[in-house]
Amino acid sequence: MVRLAAPEITSEDRKQVVSVLEGSQIAYGPTSEKFERAVASRLELGHALAVISGTAALHLALLAVGVKPGDLVLMPSLTFVAPAHAASYIGAAPRFFDSEPNYMQLDVPRLLAWLEHECELDAEGNARTAKGERIGAIVVVDLLGHLSDVGALAERVRPMGIPVVEDAAQALGATLRGEEAGAHADITCLSFNANKIVTSAGGGMLLSNDRGRIKTAQRLANQAKADPRYYVHDAVGFNYRLPSAQAALGLAQFGRLDEIIERKRRMACSYRAALVDVPGLSFTRCAPQATETNWLFTVHVDAASYGCSARRLMDLLEDRHRVETRPIFTPLHAAGVYAGEQAVECPVADRLAATGLSLPSSLGISDEELDRVCEAIRSEAPGG
Ligand SMILES: Cc1ncc(COP(=O)(O)O)c(C=O)c1O
Repeated sequence: MVRLAAPEITSEDRKQVVSVLEGSQIAYGPTSEKFERAVASRLELGHALAVISGTAALHLALLAVGVKPGDLVLMPSLTFVAPAHAASYIGAAPRFFDSEPNYMQLDVPRLLAWLEHECELDAEGNARTAKGERIGAIVVVDLLGHLSDVGALAERVRPMGIPVVEDAAQALGATLRGEEAGAHADITCLSFNANKIVTSAGGGMLLSNDRGRIKTAQRLANQAKADPRYYVHDAVGFNYRLPSAQAALGLAQFGRLDEIIERKRRMACSYRAALVDVPGLSFTRCAPQATETNWLFTVHVDAASYGCSARRLMDLLEDRHRVETRPIFTPLHAAGVYAGEQAVECPVADRLAATGLSLPSSLGISDEELDRVCEAIRSEAPGG
């Protein structure tokens, strides 16, 4: 099977993990902190906290920006489920918004129009809907390795007292106007899950220039322990800190970030060159002044001219050709536990989800495997 996104672990990665395991500090400790400093320095952000998953990072980020039970947390419908789960852990409600069609990111103008139309500032300066729900935060997701324009959003919603959390789990190393993720958000979250650009076998990080917010997250991530010696806990906390043994893997991989992105770029170029003339296939686009990470190389399948839908193609590739592909995320308003949550209409997200198909994008994909994937896609097209 040509896998969708298999991790690549080098002998140097293994050496770094073993060297931590041979010491006594295998839990959260100096290597976790070193990992935090390395990522913070790259993203030019002042403070970071390494945690056990991207989902944990989002949970802590929402708590640290002050999201409360009953709040609304605004986010794109077309995303991995983690931001909606994170809001729900707090007793807040996710409210879903559509994507723009060009780069598949949150449709910022539509969200701003909704805020203007539906919300007013209360006496404390909080934006609230007519029903009285407070807007606790906006989570912007950098989908499929492409940065959203967080700056344009943050500039408009900051005067409304709404914090912006950037979920850059899929976009570590991407740039927009020369800046990496996190340049304009109140807190930025990363994931180091096994299928991500950089992996710690499972892990995440939250980063911010706001020391107070990262301190809050640190305390909550460590069971809200109020005293270094005595077991006194001054809030309901979590056990979320990233063990050093895992941080060692993340840190070793992170040292190769530029090389990883360059290899992914070459993979994307090869896919484009090999598939450009297949009828009914089109590629996702990269915005002007942006660079992307090609986390998962994604095409769109026009069923009428390709001859079958993206879903059908996924089945054919797996059954006949042993090639693993996946649709873009199912819009959260459309199915599953959040279906029926109030969403503004999301026709673009629905369409992108129906046509999108992510192709095998492992760092270690060989030229032969990539050719096999492209040949399989050609062979299923009309006349193929
Ligand atoms: C956009 C996005 N946000 C959050 C997460 C959650 O990260 P984790 O799996 O590390 O909890 C993921 C993926 O896994 C993701 O793709």
